[in-house]
Amino acid sequence: MNIAIFGNGRLGSEIGELLGARSGIRPTILGRPASGRHSADALTGVDLVFDASVGAAVRDNVDLALSAGVRRFVIATTAWADDEPAIEAAVRRASAVAVVAPNFSIGVNLFFRLVDAAVRLYGPIGTFDPYVLEWHHAAKADRPSGTARELLRRIVAAHPRKRGARELDADGPADPGLVEVAVLRAGAGPGMHLVGFDAPGETLELRLTARDRSAYAAGAATAADWLMAEPRSPGIHPFDEVVDDLLAVPQPIAIPA
Ligand SMILES: NC(=O)c1ccc[n+]([C@@H]2O[C@H](COP(=O)([O-])OP(=O)(O)OC[C@H]3O[C@@H](n4cnc5c(N)ncnc54)[C@H](OP(=O)(O)O)[C@@H]3O)[C@@H](O)[C@H]2O)c1
Repeated sequence: MNIAIFGNGRLGSEIGELLGARSGIRPTILGRPASGRHSADALTGVDLVFDASVGAAVRDNVDLALSAGVRRFVIATTAWADDEPAIEAAVRRASAVAVVAPNFSIGVNLFFRLVDAAVRLYGPIGTFDPYVLEWHHAAKADRPSGTARELLRRIVAAHPRKRGARELDADGPADPGLVEVAVLRAGAGPGMHLVGFDAPGETLELRLTARDRSAYAAGAATAADWLMAEPRSPGIHPFDEVVDDLLAVPQPIAIPA
């Protein structure tokens, strides 16, 4: 199987190493192109592309891969929401398929479902006020993270009284109709997300901390397996669909030695 990875940074390298260790695949890893644009030659005969680059590059990367005949994509890069309609249209036009997620950690995607359930339980109780806190390494460009945005989207969608998130730079007292989000950029941590519900006298906190990037790479590889396993309908699929399929088939217990 021929695989290419856009992005030679932390995540792209981690995915490349995982594919090598798991199945001996040596993907082509493409970093920032010196000329401003990748050559289609590097993508000829490629079965699947991972994107782990930068948000501003995703549209060009996908267009180029489509023009080279690639029809399967796992897009892990965040911060390309403005380009999503154009990318989705291009993928559909080519009868191609992409799995997209702001966070490919299976643990985080189950965490999303726990948060959905917590909002359903705590949301109707007026004394519990939800909030989001996320912490990533100092070099992370986007704030809040794509994962924090997804958590906020889900909280607002399920909450009876919240209509949006408070602007990060908003002054003044908190608006009770908005969810407060706090962003930390410091050090080297690969990602921590916390959702809390605070009431007079008690606080519930749900927190997921990544120790390294292996969970992101493993989830992205699982999405690739899902794409290769059988034909999928053209367009963009959320990683949730892959997680649904994983949950439907009990997994063997794998305890590291
Ligand atoms: N979905 C998930 O599970 C998940 C998990 C972790 C990270 N992410 C996202 O994945 C992306 C990469 O994260 P990271 O931690 O690996 O960042 P990173 O270490 O900064 O790596 C990104 C790499 O992409 C390169 N690049 C820039 N333009 C490119 C282009 N046109 N084609 C190919 N490569 C290009 C960059 O080169 P230069 O240094 O020269 O710019 C850099 O080496 C970010 O958007 C991040 O938010 C997603």
